[in-house]
Amino acid sequence: MKFFLDTADLAEIEEAASWGALAGVTTNPSLYAKIGGRLENFHAHMKRICEIVGPDCPVSAESVAMTRDEIVRDGLELAEIADNIVVKIPTMVEGLAATRALADQNVPVNMTLCFSVPQALLAARAGARYISPFIGRFDDISDDGLAQVGNIVQAIGNYDFTNNTVNGEQIEIIAASVRSANHVTQCALMGADIATVPFGVLKKMVQHPLTDRGLDSFMKDWEKVQNA
Ligand code: G3P
Repeated sequence: MKFFLDTADLAEIEEAASWGALAGVTTNPSLYAKIGGRLENFHAHMKRICEIVGPDCPVSAESVAMTRDEIVRDGLELAEIADNIVVKIPTMVEGLAATRALADQNVPVNMTLCFSVPQALLAARAGARYISPFIGRFDDISDDGLAQVGNIVQAIGNYDFTNNTVNGEQIEIIAASVRSANHVTQCALMGADIATVPFGVLKKMVQHPLTDRGLDSFMKDWEKVQNA
């Protein structure tokens, strides 16, 4: 499993990138609004994220257009920002059509707001490079977000979509709307390719009380060695 950071916060991205295990970043309009982002700075901000994480880390930048042609225009502009930009598009009819058009022009798309197997299969057929099923928001309406990720991983894995995607690359499932380290565990066990996590969850993923306890006793015993 690869880990993406789900944020538009540059300080968080810099910190997470310095840990050496970051494989990408996902953003959305809400995350950009949360850091006080302004419309006129959007492209520059996405460019800065691309620079921080480097050319091998995909950075999802979301289109807020609602029609096929507008989404395609938006997507082509976003793709100009950097080679590692991935255009994020909501799972809807116009979004599917735009995904097909962008994939045909070798622009990778991350289909977001995906909540069902049929949506995921349509996204794959439309040429999406990444598909993002949401966990937490599904749980929020008293449904089972983890089960949905498992179903989507299984359904996509049943078929070969390499002819449908940009440059014949394999589709990757991004578990999104991740709210806990346990979500990450369960998604890894189900074979999700990527988990995109908020910085708070990434920090919790590193921690374990037995690691802290073990470290504490190692340091105390080492002190004894030094004073022996
Ligand atoms: O990137 C989209 C997704 O991860 C949003 O998560 O917590 O706002 O449902 P959340």
